[in-house]
Amino acid sequence: MNNLKDNLKKIFSSKEINSRVMSLGQRLSEDFEGKNPIFIGVLNGSFMFMADLMKSISITCEVDFIKLHSYKGTKSTGEIKLLKETSIDLKHRNIVIVEDIIDTGMTVKHLINLLQNSNPKSISVATLLFKSGLTDLNFNIDYIGFEITKEFVVGYGLDYNQKFRNLNSIYLLQDENTN
Ligand code: IMP
Ligand code: MG
Repeated sequence: MNNLKDNLKKIFSSKEINSRVMSLGQRLSEDFEGKNPIFIGVLNGSFMFMADLMKSISITCEVDFIKLHSYKGTKSTGEIKLLKETSIDLKHRNIVIVEDIIDTGMTVKHLINLLQNSNPKSISVATLLFKSGLTDLNFNIDYIGFEITKEFVVGYGLDYNQKFRNLNSIYLLQDENTN
């Protein structure tokens, strides 16, 4: 039987990830000093990034999670269902959305619209990975860990059919058809 792991090609080692995450944490700590930001991790993919990022935040802050389910038809504009809301009142607060990866930007765009209903003071976006390309985003990505090409990646929270989230490095999935 073919081992699916054979199709993984490491693109970022845990050492590279850790040092990049640490520098993002330092920047966020400087930018949000005295602002008591709320970091909102988007489950499930962001759990590992969120944990490491929070360990390198040196300022007073709050941490929460939101869970979304995105339905994506082949050509649909994407519809997002909220599976878990935040517990903290977001009114007049500085929010930082923490995502694992931004591809088309649809998920974050919907999330920003959703969070805006709570009347926060600001909404910023931090993502570990950004699939740059022809994506036409109508929002700013304030903090990006790594820019990658539009190929499928797994590990460090990111999954393929719910697998590989536990890996401590990030890998390119070379042949998605092998199962
Ligand atoms: P977007 O709405 O197109 O920006 O896609 C965002 C969501 O799709 C992410 O939060 C991931 O859950 C998933 N996703 C997109 N690309 C990848 C990938 O390469 N690996 C794993 N998940 C991905
Ligand atoms: Mg995600």
